[in-house]
Amino acid sequence: LVSSWYNDQSLPESYIFPPHERPGKLLVPRCNTVPVIDLSDTRTNLVHQILKASQEFGLFQVVNHGVPPNIMSETMSVFHKFFELPAEDKASLTVYTNDPKRCKLVTSTLDYDREKIHLWRDVLRHPCHPDCIEFWPRKPLRYREVVAACSIEAKKLGLQILELLCEGIGIEHGYFEHELTEDLLLGANHYPPCPDPSLTLGIPKHFDPDILTILLQEHISGLQVLKDGEWIGVRPIPNAFVVNIGYILQVISNNKLKGAEHRVVTNSSDHRISVVFCMNPAGNSNIEPAKSVVTATNPPLCRGFQFKEFMDNFYSMEGDADLALQPFK
Ligand code: OGA
Ligand code: NI
Repeated sequence: LVSSWYNDQSLPESYIFPPHERPGKLLVPRCNTVPVIDLSDTRTNLVHQILKASQEFGLFQVVNHGVPPNIMSETMSVFHKFFELPAEDKASLTVYTNDPKRCKLVTSTLDYDREKIHLWRDVLRHPCHPDCIEFWPRKPLRYREVVAACSIEAKKLGLQILELLCEGIGIEHGYFEHELTEDLLLGANHYPPCPDPSLTLGIPKHFDPDILTILLQEHISGLQVLKDGEWIGVRPIPNAFVVNIGYILQVISNNKLKGAEHRVVTNSSDHRISVVFCMNPAGNSNIEPAKSVVTATNPPLCRGFQFKEFMDNFYSMEGDADLALQPFK
C-alpha cells in the first residue's frame, strides 16, 4: 500500500506520468463551475436542471438530498479508521482473490503488476449486496452497520436521480429500477499526501463504466471533471454528494446524456478519502440504447450487448471505455 511508505520517499519513477497526462496547472478556473442542484426544489425544476447538468457536464452535486448528515459523517469516519488500521488488520483483505463477492484492498489498480505507471492511491472495493456483508471488514467495529446504512441511502438517491433523468429524456418510468442497477459496488479511495502532485495522479482521466456514481468526499479537493477540453475542480461542499453519469448510461441514453470524464489529482499536505457507490447492471443484463430515445434521425449508436461482455473489453482495453464499446458499434 502506498499509505505505508509515502512518508519516507520522494516520488518513485514508476509514479511519474508522461508530460501530456500530468495535472498541469493545479489552479482551477473560476467560471464554469460544476452545477449544484437543490433536491428540495420542485419536480419540474429538478427535471430541467438535472437534465441540463447531465448534458453539459455529466457531473453535478446534490444538496438537500434527504440523506441524514450523521450517516454521511459516520461513513467518512469509518473509512478514516479503516485506512488507519495497522497493516496486520488489513492483511487478509490484500490477498489476491478472484471471487467477485469478496473485498479487495489494493494499491493503484488490480493490474499493478502489469501497469506501466502506478496511481497514487489505495482502494478498498466490495459489492454492497446484503449477501456479501459477511465478507466486509470486521474492523473498525461499526464498519458493517454504518456502510450498510449509507449504501441503502446512496442507492435510493441514485434511483431518485435516474427517475428524474428518465422523465427528462423520455425513457419510461422505472427503466433502471431492477437489473440495470442490481449491483451496487463500493470503492473507498485513500490518497495519501504526495511528494510531487505535479507529476502524478490519484486516478488518470476515465469514465466510470457504470450507470451512475454517487460520491462522498470531505473538505479536501482533488476531483476534477473535463469540460470543453478544460479540467474543472469539483469544489467540496459540506454534506453534498457528487453524482456522475456513467458510460453505460450515456450508451442507454443514445448519447443524449454525457458520461463524465474525470480524474483525481493529489496534494502534498493532506490525506484525502473519497467513497464511491457505483450503480452497476447485473453482469447478464442487456445494454442497448433505450427504444424510446432512438428515432430515425437519432439512430442507435451501437447494438445490444451484455454488461459483462463490455466489462471484459473494458479490462482488456486497460480501462478505455470508448475502445471497450467499439466491438458493439
Ligand atoms: C473513482 C473516482 C473520484 C474521487 O473512484 O472512479 O473517480 O474523488 N473517484 O476519488
Ligand atoms: Ni471515477
